[in-house]
Amino acid sequence: MCGIIGYIGNKQVIPVILNGLSNLEYRGYDSAGIAYLENSNINIYKAQGKLQNLKNKTENITANNSLNIGIGHIRWATHGVPNETNAHPHTSCFNKIALVHNGIIENYKELKDDLVKKGYNIQSQTDTEIIVHLIEEKLKEMPDKTTAIRNTLNDLDGAYALGIVFADEPETFFAARKSAPLIVGIGEGENFIASDVPATLEYTKKVIYLEDNEIAKLTKDNVEIFNKKNEKIEKKVELIPWEPVAIDKMGYKHFMLKEIHEQPNVVRQTLSDKLHSSEELVQLNEVKLNEEDLKKLERIQIIACGSSLHAAMVGKYIIEELVEIPVDVEASSEYIYKKNITGKNSLTIGISQSGETADTLTAIRQSKEKGSHALIITNRVDSTMAREADSLLPINAGIEVSVAATKSYTAQLLALYLLALNLAEIKKSVSNEKLTILKEELLKTPQQIEIMLSNKKAIQKCARKYYDTRDFIYIARGINFPAALEGALKLKEISYINATGYPAGELKHGPIAMLDNTIPVLSVLVPGTVYEKVLSNSEESKARDANIIAVTSSEDEKLESIFDYIIRIPQTDELISPIITTVPLQLLAYYIAEFLGKDVDQPRNLAKSVTVE
Ligand code: G6P
Repeated sequence: MCGIIGYIGNKQVIPVILNGLSNLEYRGYDSAGIAYLENSNINIYKAQGKLQNLKNKTENITANNSLNIGIGHIRWATHGVPNETNAHPHTSCFNKIALVHNGIIENYKELKDDLVKKGYNIQSQTDTEIIVHLIEEKLKEMPDKTTAIRNTLNDLDGAYALGIVFADEPETFFAARKSAPLIVGIGEGENFIASDVPATLEYTKKVIYLEDNEIAKLTKDNVEIFNKKNEKIEKKVELIPWEPVAIDKMGYKHFMLKEIHEQPNVVRQTLSDKLHSSEELVQLNEVKLNEEDLKKLERIQIIACGSSLHAAMVGKYIIEELVEIPVDVEASSEYIYKKNITGKNSLTIGISQSGETADTLTAIRQSKEKGSHALIITNRVDSTMAREADSLLPINAGIEVSVAATKSYTAQLLALYLLALNLAEIKKSVSNEKLTILKEELLKTPQQIEIMLSNKKAIQKCARKYYDTRDFIYIARGINFPAALEGALKLKEISYINATGYPAGELKHGPIAMLDNTIPVLSVLVPGTVYEKVLSNSEESKARDANIIAVTSSEDEKLESIFDYIIRIPQTDELISPIITTVPLQLLAYYIAEFLGKDVDQPRNLAKSVTVE
């Protein structure tokens, strides 16, 4: 949610900032802006909409300086509509200070009223603009910039990562953070700040992770960090162990389609690391609880948001089934504002692709405070959650560019299956025969996903048949109920069709009232414990004139005469099936959005990393 970057050094500042922002565009695309210094003046360019609009505006501009200094911003609107006035950087009354911000200032209204009374001219509807005027105000009494910034921060409630430049200090810029990610990139004769490592990785692998309440003061050759008391402190410089990744669609029309196709390899790679054969134990050394602690576990809670929450729901089924420990799954945003009854003999699993989702981070911190061990399942080993984890289980899905999660979701599922198998082995809660069968099935999944992907035509045809519907219902039961939720979420996110997932048995408790021939009902139908029940619920929908679609591995011939459309998936064990059933639902959402001409990779109003509560 919003991304910021800052640069000081000898390179041309505009390309460095724009390049960095390109790697942050997953955080928002409502507007973009840049401020840079030239002859002690602050020049500002802003554009509504995607970064490309700012690139077009600045393509012929170069800063006329030997030392270059600037800050940039990519916006996901929280306060104020996405227009140029509300775009960052925001400036002080006489254009002497410019500031970019990621986060939310919760007490901005009171601060704004106060500033207006003092005669400040606030131009935007944002919560951010008041920060720059507060600094302006403080500087009247305390000319030292670090002190003025610190005093301003003391007045703010909420979350912020800030980059600040001053017209009268062309050789220095400042950064600060509280509850929003921010790194300092250390270069040779140049230094950076950024919301995330990929923004600066092309230039340097050395980073300092700023902590809450710290202020950084950067010149081209030096970085000073100050703690809450404004004392200068030493910070560890860390080396990023990965190379910059070329972000390339590899011939696919969209990143989403490419990422869907990467799933067999993502799964294959993880299995080759952690599950060598169905006869061997799962190699999961990441969980840092000893055997005694694991045996004492009374409760597991899994906390996540969005697609990660749906993965968590599958995790509940599989862990309860195999390990026989009660598992609670909660949306992080709900978890954090209620009584927390987590205790010592509990394990808290946080699932987050980005490792930065604000609600999940807060929830994990709260449960750690209560003495629970925090196991983080994430795609970003350099994220805040990963750094605060007691145990870290990386999913290694590779950079996911499309806002709608696909390969990271499947990789999260796999991590949860491996964890459940590992716990079952330790607790001896399942027979060896059953474990062997499940491992065999798990080892087949990369190939099954490949089969699914080679059969895209049937899904494309289904998408063509139903793309102009306004509503869509997805139903399933048991371990595939989360697949129905995830399928509906994918469709909603990228096509804006009102798609909802229900437990199939709940349809008759209300939603069935909506059904008629305008609403397709898609059933996830896998032979096993709930097959006949879901089939009956599908028939109930058909009896109300709904068009019914099956995603099924069943070879039951009667299905042809029941369903209006059938998407076939490979035969799979019911317990393992969510790894397979989600893939056709991702493709269905993709093709529908494509037929509708939607912006598949950057759907409106969404962002990939949600760093505000
Ligand atoms: C956003 C993204 C979703 C993602 C959710 C949770 O809403 O658009 O795709 O599932 O955040 O993100 P996380 O990084 O915590 O998995």
